[in-house]
Amino acid sequence: QEDKEETTYQRYTEIMSTLPRVRGFALKNLYQHQGFWYVDSYLPGVMAVQNHFMAHSSDILLASPPKCGTTWLKSLIFAICNRKLLHPLLNVNPHQLVPFLEFQLYANNQIPVLDILPSPRLFATHIPYSSLPQSILDSGCPIVYICRNPKDAFVSLWHFLNKISTEESTMPSLEEAFEMFCNGASHYGPFWDHVLEYWRASLDRPQCVMFFKYEEMQAEVIGHVKRLAEFIRCPFSLEEEKEGVVDEIIRLCSFENLSRLDVNKAGDALFGKTGIKSNSFFRKGKVGDWSNYLTPNMIERLDRISEQKFHGYGLTL
Ligand code: A3P
Repeated sequence: QEDKEETTYQRYTEIMSTLPRVRGFALKNLYQHQGFWYVDSYLPGVMAVQNHFMAHSSDILLASPPKCGTTWLKSLIFAICNRKLLHPLLNVNPHQLVPFLEFQLYANNQIPVLDILPSPRLFATHIPYSSLPQSILDSGCPIVYICRNPKDAFVSLWHFLNKISTEESTMPSLEEAFEMFCNGASHYGPFWDHVLEYWRASLDRPQCVMFFKYEEMQAEVIGHVKRLAEFIRCPFSLEEEKEGVVDEIIRLCSFENLSRLDVNKAGDALFGKTGIKSNSFFRKGKVGDWSNYLTPNMIERLDRISEQKFHGYGLTL
C-alpha cells in the first residue's frame, strides 16, 4: 500500500514539473495548476485530494483563501458541532480539530482512510472552487467560505510568511510580496479569482455554499454564528439561546480567548512534515490593520484591482 501511495505522489511530482512555474514568496517555487498558484510542497497534496477524496453528504467543508479567518471559523464550526463536550478547543489547536485536506491529511505521500471518522467529518481547504474534487460538489455537503478585504489579507499573509520563514535571507520585503500578490502569484492566488469563484457559487447554489466576510462577522458575530449553525445543520434551540450557549461559543472562539491559551501560544500545529508554530495563526485579529503598513499607492492599486475584478458581480470587500 505504501509503495502504491508513493508511486501516486511521484506521478504528481512529475506532472508538477511540466507546469508553469514562478519564484514566489520566501524563494519558494509556485506552480500554476488549473489557473491558480500553489507552493511546491503542497501541490501534490492538492492533486491527491482531487483524485482520491470521497466526500459524504454529512461532511462540513470550510474553504478560504489563506489568512482570512480560517482559524476562527474552524474553531466556531468545531464548537458548534461539539457544543456538548467539555471543550477540546481549550487544549488542542483548532488546526488539529479541523484539518486541512491538502496539507494535513493528503500529505507525506499518504492517501488517508477517512471513512472511519465519525460524522459529521469536518475538513478545511484553500483549494479554489473550480478545483474542488467532483465528489464534494456531487455530495451537496455544506461549504462555508470565509474571505476578507484583500488589503488585510495581504498584510496578514506577509506577517505570517515572515514569521514562518526559517532563514532571514528568504524573507520577502513588503514591496516584493505586494508585487507578487497583485500579480496573482501568491499561495492559492489570484486572490480575487479565488473569492469570486466562491461568491458566484454561493449565488448559484446557496443551499450548498455560504459566503462570509471577516469584517461582517466581526461587526455582527451573534447573527453570523446563528446563521452558520443553521447552515451546517446544527441550529441552536431557543432554550440554548436563552441559556447563553451562543455567547459561550463566541467567547470560547474569540481571538482574545484562543490566543491566550497555552496550546496556541507554544508548540506546533503540524502541517505535513512541517511544524508551524501555533502562535503564527494569531497576530492582531483586527479589521483595518493594513493602514499601518500600506502606502497610498499600494492602497490605490489594491482597491483598483478589486474594483476591476469584482465589477458587475455585486461583490465588495
Ligand atoms: P491578522 O494577521 O490580521 O491578525 P487564518 O486563520 O486564515 O490563517 O487567518 C489568520 C488571521 O485571522 C490573522 O489575522 C489572525 O490574527 C486572525 N485570527 C486568528 N484567530 C482569530 C479569531 N479567533 N478571531 C478573529 N481573528 C482571528
